[in-house]
Amino acid sequence: MKRSTAALPTAEQKFERIAVKPTGAALGADIPEVDLSLALDSAIVEEIKQAWASHLVLRFRGQRLGDEHLMSFSRIFGELDSVPVPSADNRRQLTPGFVTIISNIIENGKAIGGLGAYEAHWHTDMSYQEQPPLGSLLYSIEIPPSGGNTYFANMYFAYERLPDDVKKRIATYTCRHDSSRNSVGELRRGFDDVRDPRDAPGAVHPIVRTHPVTGRRALYLGRRRNSYIVGLDLVESERVLDSLWEHATSSEFVWSQQWRVGDVILWDNRCTMHRRDAFDNSSRRLMHRTQIKGDRVY
Ligand code: OGA
Ligand code: MN
Repeated sequence: MKRSTAALPTAEQKFERIAVKPTGAALGADIPEVDLSLALDSAIVEEIKQAWASHLVLRFRGQRLGDEHLMSFSRIFGELDSVPVPSADNRRQLTPGFVTIISNIIENGKAIGGLGAYEAHWHTDMSYQEQPPLGSLLYSIEIPPSGGNTYFANMYFAYERLPDDVKKRIATYTCRHDSSRNSVGELRRGFDDVRDPRDAPGAVHPIVRTHPVTGRRALYLGRRRNSYIVGLDLVESERVLDSLWEHATSSEFVWSQQWRVGDVILWDNRCTMHRRDAFDNSSRRLMHRTQIKGDRVY
């Protein structure tokens, strides 16, 4: 697809209470020197929110958090959300409150968390719901020696860099977001194995959404499998989606997170997508996770 050559916007902001170190890639910034286990005053919270709006993904390294700390930090951004629907063959365990476990660890023959050691394909969290979570947080407790990196893509840039005729064409499109499988392709408990995207269950959202905080427009693709542009002929829907997905996941929009123990990553599901590399299942990876309730997509 031919790209628009519009300059990518740069975020020039002044922060007085926190340091913000952009990754230099299309999104992401480190916030060093903030201890998330402490109560943060409102000026710091305000600056963290501004940095999040500008950089879409924030990383806080070197944290040591209990679940209560992870929950209270997460609540800064809104009400905590309930967990994704577990897959048929794992029983995602809930730690106290709203913290879920993302892990490949097996204990007593049972997976203690979700997503295993598989590759997780590009997605934005739970977009198959009418009101998808606005953001999610992952806190790393154990990481494998290699693999399991997480990649984030900037969906503002993906939208802004579309050719004008494509922007015009997709302006009124809505897309259905399949709820039957999770991001590693596992069938969720209680769902049928749908093969025709026109039959997939899940919420319908505009394919271009407006971010309620920044007012910027972003591509909102959700996940590729069983995705369907409502009202189009299936062949045409597949063609448009393939082309949009190829564009949206190109490396110029992507930043990769190589995990260290103690990293907290906060991402915005309204304007980013993410994926994860597979890793060796004989090593251990353990993350605690929260997500924040969101609103209807417009
Ligand atoms: C998630 C997710 C990626 C990872 O928790 O929503 O996609 O790196 N996790 O485990
Ligand atoms: Mn996810």
